[in-house]
Amino acid sequence: MIEPQTVRIDLSTSPRGYDIIIGENILANAGTYISQRMGERRCIIVTDSNVAPLYLQRTEAVFATAAHTLLPSIVMPAGESSKSVDGLQTLLGQLFDRALDRETVLIALGGGVIGDLTGFAASIALRGLNFVQIPTTLLAQVDSSVGGKTGINSSYGKNTLGSFYQPRLVLADTSTLDSLPERQMMAGYAEVVKYGLIHDLDFFMWCDEHASQLMFGNPDIRIQAISKSCAYKAQIVAEDERESGRRALLNLGHTFGHALESVTGFSDKLFHGEAVSIGTVMAFDLSAQMGLCPTQDAQAVRNHLIRLGLPVTPPNGNYDIDELMNLMAQDKKASRGKLTLILTKGIGQAFIAKNVDPQPIRELWAHTI
Ligand code: NAD
Ligand code: GLY
Repeated sequence: MIEPQTVRIDLSTSPRGYDIIIGENILANAGTYISQRMGERRCIIVTDSNVAPLYLQRTEAVFATAAHTLLPSIVMPAGESSKSVDGLQTLLGQLFDRALDRETVLIALGGGVIGDLTGFAASIALRGLNFVQIPTTLLAQVDSSVGGKTGINSSYGKNTLGSFYQPRLVLADTSTLDSLPERQMMAGYAEVVKYGLIHDLDFFMWCDEHASQLMFGNPDIRIQAISKSCAYKAQIVAEDERESGRRALLNLGHTFGHALESVTGFSDKLFHGEAVSIGTVMAFDLSAQMGLCPTQDAQAVRNHLIRLGLPVTPPNGNYDIDELMNLMAQDKKASRGKLTLILTKGIGQAFIAKNVDPQPIRELWAHTI
């Protein structure tokens, strides 16, 4: 079994970088990892109603052993609906009920929903509290817990209220993935292969060979895939924390995906990673259609995702192309009403395309929905 891996994020904009520690049974030492970096603290664990019965008691015990003072934990309803204005208000209310002070550390124990919500609450409560991410989904371990994007969804669209606010530490215990439903595991995989599709053909080939082992429990392969993904992300975030340039590449497939998540009501009909899978295929297809990318690369990506059981077309429903286009125009990368998309010259060669003509996108939606 391989040893825990540490990936370091050093930020050019801030003196304070942080570690991402990845391995099996990291949770057992979570309290110690935190006290080594931040001393003994008052902590509040925030989790969700699916994760709580699985890991909350164990995590509370570990914190108590490491001599942190644990205030009562907060359990939010599981699911994307907690990442909302109402969810934020509920969380803040419960935090302030616990006599929060500036020394209190918030511990986000869960998937991307809990991480994004807790991170956002940490960034605004008392003008900023320290927080630690303990991601328990594959998606959160390879993407959402790293890099400091926090936020909630609103009537204005996906992740439209939020902040850039970095955690002090990320602890990814890969054994927590054993309890993750298969569909969630696959959805998370879309964010793993994304790193290869953006800028590393060799990593894509490695994923093509190892993805089944990653999803079906080979612990060493998991640690390798998660460490490699975090190292890619750390490198990009270190250069461009606030997404004024290269970080936008990490949004490959997301402008299409976010529009689909929005029209399916941020619900179990379509998980975020599934929407990214469909959006990635669309980004490759659009690139091929525009003559930017070889058709066989677009086909290889589609075949890879299908082979692994990921969706490449939206669930059945009545979709309205105008609505999808309007949602795409609300994307945070859009500038002065013009669409910015992540397109590609081939596998491993993504680039930022500004002022993309909407007509081929409309045609692509017409073929896809
Ligand atoms: P999620 O947090 O909803 O978790 C998925 C489901 O798995 C939930 O039902 C959860 O209760 C359950 N779960 C979590 N851990 C479990 C475990 N170990 N065993 C069993 N069940 C478990 O969703 P997610 O896919 O982790 O994250 C999606 C969110 O992340 C989206 O809101 C997306 O926008 C956001 N995101 C953010 C970033 C970022 O950079 N901040 C990046 C990518 C995605
Ligand atoms: N998930 C995209 C980013 O963090 O920039």
